Amino acid sequence: MEPYQATHYSQRIEHVLEACLPTEDRAPARLHEAMRYAALSPGKRMRPRLVYAAATALGVPLSRVDGAAAAIELIHAYSLVHDDLPAMDDDDLRRGRPTTHKAFDDATAILAGDALQALAFEIVATHAGLDDAPAARVAVIRRLGRAVGSRGMVGGQALDIAFEGQTGVTVEDLETVHNLKTGALLSAAVMMAAAAADDLSSDVAECLEIFAARIGLAFQVRDDVLDIESTTEQLGKQQGADIAHDKATYPALLGLDEAKALADRLYTEATAALDILGDRADDLRALAAEIVKRDR
Ligand code: IPE
Ligand code: IPE
Ligand code: MG
Ligand code: MG
Ligand code: MG
Repeated sequence: MEPYQATHYSQRIEHVLEACLPTEDRAPARLHEAMRYAALSPGKRMRPRLVYAAATALGVPLSRVDGAAAAIELIHAYSLVHDDLPAMDDDDLRRGRPTTHKAFDDATAILAGDALQALAFEIVATHAGLDDAPAARVAVIRRLGRAVGSRGMVGGQALDIAFEGQTGVTVEDLETVHNLKTGALLSAAVMMAAAAADDLSSDVAECLEIFAARIGLAFQVRDDVLDIESTTEQLGKQQGADIAHDKATYPALLGLDEAKALADRLYTEATAALDILGDRADDLRALAAEIVKRDR
């Protein structure tokens, strides 16, 4: 077993993203500039790193999942551009820089998000890594499509906005919002790697589903906690934004200590589900730990 390949995964995704984004010298230049601004800015790249770590756990060559890794990060970048728009969370700062609509304008930000989403699907449909596995390619695309739309991320964003300022939001409601708006893409990251595997047993698939669901929810619980506990400088985005918008969050509903205890519980359940994979899943374990302990 190689040691944790954190740096390797991070460097790999930067190269893949750089190669698949249209350059600014191609028209429409301003749109391409905005797409690159949004996608190449310094994020944690958690979703593509999960794709690579899950592929490693399953013995899938990383070249097979480069397309999936790029696609999930492009979708994530698009979701952040739209999430920050005045009509949604109305934020000015993202990844330590002005949000895309601030650096460009609202129309360009909307279009850059649209185009990043289309590019993501084009990449999984055409990436050479899956040329020899057409059925796996379709499975990967299906997984991504499901995670992004109204029964996934976009559905969660709709509920998140609908619940703003509402009283009577229950823990069950909030779990649904978080599972959809954030859990869906994180789960898809893990499960796209599974979809790219040749002979996955149903036992392993089931355990990965559990792992993915638990870390997906834990990720957003931690995001809610950081909105209270961290600083704008550390986060690279405005601290306290959830309270300012009267968002339904775990700390708001359960209190800070309970929210943290929940993240710990989800981490324990997630990593327990990896037992079946032995030490091949060490990179997934390391990423799960990062998700609940991260400070940005
Ligand atoms: C922020 O995601 C949005 C949420 C789903 C909570 P990340 O915390 O992964 O943001 P980046 O990609 O590192 O900027
Ligand atoms: C964002 O959730 C989820 C998506 C973008 C799909 P948040 O609104 O909590 O993310 P941040 O805090 O702005 O990064
Ligand atoms: Mg939001
Ligand atoms: Mg937001
Ligand atoms: Mg947040």
